[in-house]
Amino acid sequence: MYYGADYYPEQWLEERWPLDADLMQEAGFNVVRLAEFAWSKMEPREGYYEFSWLDKAIDILGERSMKIVLGTPTASPPPWLMSAHPDTFRVRADGVRVTFGNRREYCPTNKTYRHYSARITHAMAEHFKDNPNVIGWQIDNEFGCHDSAACFCPQCQEAFKGWLKERYITLKRLNERWGTTFWSHVYNDWSEIPLPWTTSGSPNPGLALDYRRFASDSYLAYQQLQVDILRQLCPHHFLTHNFMGFTYDGLNYHALAEPLDFVSWDNYPLMMNADPARIAIAHDTMRGLKRSGFWVMEEQSGPHGWENVGPTPRPGEIRLWVYQAIAHGAEGILFFRWRTSRFGTEQYWHGILDHDGIPRRRYQEVKRVGEELKRIGEMIAGSRCRAEVAMLLSYDDRFAFQIQSNNSRFSYSDHFQLYYEALHRLNVPVDIVSPQGDLSHYKLVIAPTLHIVTEEIISNLQRYVKQGGLLVITFRSGVKDEANAVVNRALPGLLADLSAIEVAEYDSLPAEGRNGLEFVIPGLAIMGQKISCEVWCDIIEPKGAEVVARYTEEYYAGKPAITLNRFGQGQVVYVGTMGDGRLYETLAGWLLTLAGVQTILTAPKGLEMTERWQGNRRLLFVLNHTEREQEVTLEGRYSDLLYGSAVVEGRLFIAPRDVLVLREEKKG
Ligand code: GLA
Ligand code: ZN
Repeated sequence: MYYGADYYPEQWLEERWPLDADLMQEAGFNVVRLAEFAWSKMEPREGYYEFSWLDKAIDILGERSMKIVLGTPTASPPPWLMSAHPDTFRVRADGVRVTFGNRREYCPTNKTYRHYSARITHAMAEHFKDNPNVIGWQIDNEFGCHDSAACFCPQCQEAFKGWLKERYITLKRLNERWGTTFWSHVYNDWSEIPLPWTTSGSPNPGLALDYRRFASDSYLAYQQLQVDILRQLCPHHFLTHNFMGFTYDGLNYHALAEPLDFVSWDNYPLMMNADPARIAIAHDTMRGLKRSGFWVMEEQSGPHGWENVGPTPRPGEIRLWVYQAIAHGAEGILFFRWRTSRFGTEQYWHGILDHDGIPRRRYQEVKRVGEELKRIGEMIAGSRCRAEVAMLLSYDDRFAFQIQSNNSRFSYSDHFQLYYEALHRLNVPVDIVSPQGDLSHYKLVIAPTLHIVTEEIISNLQRYVKQGGLLVITFRSGVKDEANAVVNRALPGLLADLSAIEVAEYDSLPAEGRNGLEFVIPGLAIMGQKISCEVWCDIIEPKGAEVVARYTEEYYAGKPAITLNRFGQGQVVYVGTMGDGRLYETLAGWLLTLAGVQTILTAPKGLEMTERWQGNRRLLFVLNHTEREQEVTLEGRYSDLLYGSAVVEGRLFIAPRDVLVLREEKKG
């Protein structure tokens, strides 16, 4: 287990470094991230490199047995570079070029910027490749953050043209796929194709989607520039990048994760109201990108804040978040940041230590976890999360809904989260994976608003269902082809065979619009309870599917809203509407039974339970996110790794914000 902090020695006097390193060592740290914002310290003038200060910091940390992750500093270029090359600044969608003064100001396509990025990466790699304390690299920092996912500069426009040529080969084909006869947009020359600038009004959806894909690919290419240099010079170091969890939807994270050794991400629970399900979905999304263990490269350790100061982590919260991350598959946790900066935009973004550098309550909590991880790290090493349920997350769909949300109250992420939350509430482990990935070992697969459907996705889903899987799809699925045109067939388009329904009509509900649902399947009907639905109602005509629920209001009262179809050895559920939380609780219970998925254990609200597995041996994490003592009844016998009792079984009490890590005892 890697445990440590993000440290900025360049922001403090050298005399302080040994004391910082001593305190880190006492806290049980074995890793530190350095340098990701230190370009102007490492290359103070063009081509003049200054690494001795960093060598010294690494020595001081290394002597106290800490390993180093180096960040390439390209998220925040130095003034000398940007003022000499103003074309390297990215251009916003309204055509305005950003100016210097924050960070992430650069265009990833810009040739000059790529040249300077390659040079600093190369210089760092050359200098640090044989330093025994350096173990890996974080490339850049949070690609896409601060609304930087897309650039609208002339070089991007030119590159977009090339990207489109590669995709469509001929202009004729592009015109067809985008349907440019609409509003007389037929292009005669590639150079006529605009970017989706906001100043031109709502663009052609085909153009808009391709532009988002292109923008995402530009970061992919930019990352690859650094990957190639680092792979060549530092073949023994790992490469990662710090992603931004579930809610960030500006870049295709599946593609971005591909060339890296593992995914890292930045977890700020208090920016998510410390809601355990929202933190959990982010961990699961990050684990799903490469379907393997991940790191939390920045874990909240104090109040967050730029202009305003956020709430202070309550006693026990930092520890709880560390264990929650581990419970969801984290293999490394670094806190952001070691000490709160006295200067700069993030003056109020608190770290483990406050501005004055005095270790207090938060440091003691971090240190306690450090001691615990020293004891139990070995016992959980190599264990993995396992799930029988998958949810399919598509960045193409996220892009498409950014362009047209379909209903002003619809959000792809919020809708996705409703399903996730219901499963999380029941303590069901969930993998969040791409619709193209292997689904064969899941019992239940949920694909909320699978909007853009390709032949490849269809065969993947058909294969899965034929072999006995249970697939859930919803309204607004199968609506678009890959070019973001509406399909030329009845909805749900290519998903019609699987679902055996036709969407005869749909009703996009206004803000106050509600309908009701009545379940007609025995066991699902909740006596006297009406579940309300909102946002969208597909009016379904079954073409072989069985009716699960009907609408209760409007001219389509009595028409099917939810259906179930048998396909091959498996089944497909179509959910034609969006409900409140109760709909998802009801559905989750039913679907889990239908799929034969076991929940871990029933537990009170706020008590989260997850598992990691060492082969066939279960590690059970019990996380009390509440301020009250909670009770749970275990099945089987466990040993309590944190508190040391040899055998625990039956009823168990968990103190407020406390954590238990339990290892199942072998039976017999
Ligand atoms: C992000 C960045 C960090 C820092 C923190 C706090 O996660 O990666 O550099 O800015 O947010 O704002
Ligand atoms: Zn650009």
